[in-house]
Amino acid sequence: MSRVLITEFMDVAAVRKLQSRFDVTYAPNLVDARNEMLEGLQQVDALIVRNRTQVNAELLAAAPRLKVVGRLGVGLDNIDVKACADRSVDVIPATGANALSVAEYVLCTSMMLLRGAYLSTQAVAQGKWPRPALSNGREAGGKLIGLVGFGGIGRLTAQLAQGLGMQVIAHDPMLDSSAPEWNDLRVRPVGLNELFTAADVVSLHIPLTPETRNLVDADRIARMKQGAVLINTARGGIVDESALAAALKEGKLAGAALDVFSQEPLTAQSPLANVPNLVLTPHIAGVTTESNERVSVLIAEKIIETLNNHA
Ligand SMILES: NC(=O)c1ccc[n+]([C@@H]2O[C@H](COP(=O)([O-])OP(=O)(O)OC[C@H]3O[C@@H](n4cnc5c(N)ncnc54)[C@H](O)[C@@H]3O)[C@@H](O)[C@H]2O)c1
Repeated sequence: MSRVLITEFMDVAAVRKLQSRFDVTYAPNLVDARNEMLEGLQQVDALIVRNRTQVNAELLAAAPRLKVVGRLGVGLDNIDVKACADRSVDVIPATGANALSVAEYVLCTSMMLLRGAYLSTQAVAQGKWPRPALSNGREAGGKLIGLVGFGGIGRLTAQLAQGLGMQVIAHDPMLDSSAPEWNDLRVRPVGLNELFTAADVVSLHIPLTPETRNLVDADRIARMKQGAVLINTARGGIVDESALAAALKEGKLAGAALDVFSQEPLTAQSPLANVPNLVLTPHIAGVTTESNERVSVLIAEKIIETLNNHA
């Protein structure tokens, strides 16, 4: 019987589905006990991870029977895809299964930061009445959102934004300006400089690559509109966190939401501590009850298919 090891959390129904067919070890905290994990890989045929288990040469050397790695998410930063290919180990991401969770996060934080009115609970409960200070919030309707990256999540975000009456522009040099997606979704392709200069909300939907590292640096932030909002659900390292902190403190930007960071978790030295109008979340934009179910079922089904093909 094939053996499956799951080293991070997975929806229980999907784990049961795998258990009905294979010898499954579900150990959602094993990611934090690297040596123990490596020792347990000797007989494993399929490994299922999220974004914390480092699937590298060391791990592959400890797993001589490994045939497939299922990724409960999309980004493959924690997986050495080339080393897997060299060993003929399939790598299967859950493409698309958490896109709606991310797109909703982008719209929710955009509206929250444009409006600027939702952080007064304590003051109102204490009998203060900060009405004048909170009376100049802005609507999302009619605003321009600029999407850097127009793949799966970028496109879904565009559709949700249009539902709110927002105009959408996007920059994606890998997608030809004559590609039907632009017309079909009524999104205008633009250069990066135009996007940063024109948008009321800039949202990032690109992978972290040598080209995208530090893409949002002090110069690009300086080009943004006074009072614009920046959302990063893509990957840490794309935004210069010190430059962003400075722009929020100066009031150049009205707000920012970051779900991903150059170092996760943040350290005590992070420039993002005590910065105004900043929403920080611990890499959960794509993680909801619903997306966890979709991602887990999709990966369970693909692992079953792959192991059956190898049988
Ligand atoms: N925070 C979370 O929980 C979470 C969840 C899911 C995905 N993500 C991240 O969101 C990002 C987008 O995911 P996706 O599923 O839409 O990926 P995708 O592959 O469908 O789309 C990415 C797009 O970026 C474009 N691109 C690549 N380099 C570019 C560049 N230099 N400038 C502009 N565009 C460029 C590609 O052409 C592609 O269309 C990824 O980084 C992914 O890891 C985060």
